[in-house]
Amino acid sequence: MGHTSRREFIRQGSLGTAGILFASGLINSSFASSVSRTPAILGGSPMWTAASWVKWPMWVQSEDEKVLLDSIRSGVWSRAKLVDEFESKWAATIGTKRCLTVSNGTNALITAINRFDIGAGDEVITTPYTFIASVQAILANNAMPVFADIDPATYQIDPVKLESKITKRTKAILVVHILGLPADMDKIMSIARKHNLIVIEDACQAHLAEYDNKRVGSIGDAGCFSFQNSKNLPIGEGGAIVSNNEKFIDDCFAAHNLGYAYGTSTGAVAGDSFMKASKIRLTEYAAAIGLAQLKRVEEQTKTRHENAKYLSSMLKEIDGITPIKLYDKVTQGAYHLYSFRYDAAKFKGLSRAKFLEALRKEGLPCSGGYKVMHTQAFMQDAFNSRVYKSFYSRKMLDFEDYKQRNNCPENEHLCNDAVWLLQNVLLGSRQDMEGIATVIKNISKNADKI
Ligand SMILES: Cc1ncc(COP(=O)(O)O)c(C=O)c1O
Repeated sequence: MGHTSRREFIRQGSLGTAGILFASGLINSSFASSVSRTPAILGGSPMWTAASWVKWPMWVQSEDEKVLLDSIRSGVWSRAKLVDEFESKWAATIGTKRCLTVSNGTNALITAINRFDIGAGDEVITTPYTFIASVQAILANNAMPVFADIDPATYQIDPVKLESKITKRTKAILVVHILGLPADMDKIMSIARKHNLIVIEDACQAHLAEYDNKRVGSIGDAGCFSFQNSKNLPIGEGGAIVSNNEKFIDDCFAAHNLGYAYGTSTGAVAGDSFMKASKIRLTEYAAAIGLAQLKRVEEQTKTRHENAKYLSSMLKEIDGITPIKLYDKVTQGAYHLYSFRYDAAKFKGLSRAKFLEALRKEGLPCSGGYKVMHTQAFMQDAFNSRVYKSFYSRKMLDFEDYKQRNNCPENEHLCNDAVWLLQNVLLGSRQDMEGIATVIKNISKNADKI
């Protein structure tokens, strides 16, 4: 039984009459999404099982295994021609002149920040609504993270607030395309040019997302990607820096390989090194996995984008649910995660935690997403270090004062009311999208009983 038919079979088994009608196409989608069901949390049968969703990461043995096994059997495991091949294909995919792979997205960011000579005494403006790695990468360079609040509709950094945070110390903007959706790049780039700031794009969640037909990562001075297990292009661990600036990528190459110049053999026992550097190279077998995943990512991104559009068109009709918005110039969303804002008051006071539990009981993978992060202990730990004390004033390092200056109320609201559907959900069928709308409508109808 093929993948689709097995899923349809499971769906029919778990959904009863409505499921059989869905699967057979005997009812149309608008009728299907209005089918009344008892929510699983109140004893109804769940809409999905774990097996309903694609398993992530995907591995198609017949198509993927040869290049990986050949690489392992060759005994060439350190970076060589497969890494080179992956880098040239990723640069071509994103639309930049060059790409350098590294051990993960965190180190891609650390290296990019470092090679633009951003460090102790400098400020980097970023968003509070991001994964901790964006902030750790700034701290790893002994720079000061400065937070500009988000746009509540798109969850991305608000360009107006960003500009208001620029000081004499500001050197760079770390733009994060969070959840795989592009930030407002025209405005951000024009602010950066006006104030002579470097723009590094944290595209770690945004593989193939497009703003004005340009892929993110190719718009700023450099872009950074993650290929960690959950990402839309998963390798397990892996990352990349892309740029049109050849000298910058040559320097990043040396930085990722003990300071040996770009073009030197990575197997050298005693090369000439010109730079203080680390060693964060990708392996050949990781590149082999990446090459296998690369074949699917274009088509999967289109599926995610189309499914998200369809799902948003249904969810926006439900009182209390506000789907995430895209900027007008976004031509493709990567939708690493699909998110909407949940208004408990419109669900008769049903808390977000209970709402998430009700979704999980339906077999829908979901989460409440990020917590407020930039007030946590790791920040204070950095501020207590000798290097921070040498480069920043006492007032800048006063943590209570820092928290006040970096207060981001829109981010706090979002951390309290966001709902994420996890990244394999948008690879489901159109019927799955209709199913999501159905379960949410039914939770809404029954909210007082949950
Ligand atoms: C926004 C963002 N930045 C950076 C990273 C870091 O990437 P990695 O996990 O490969 O180090 C991630 C990964 O989860 C991320 O989501």
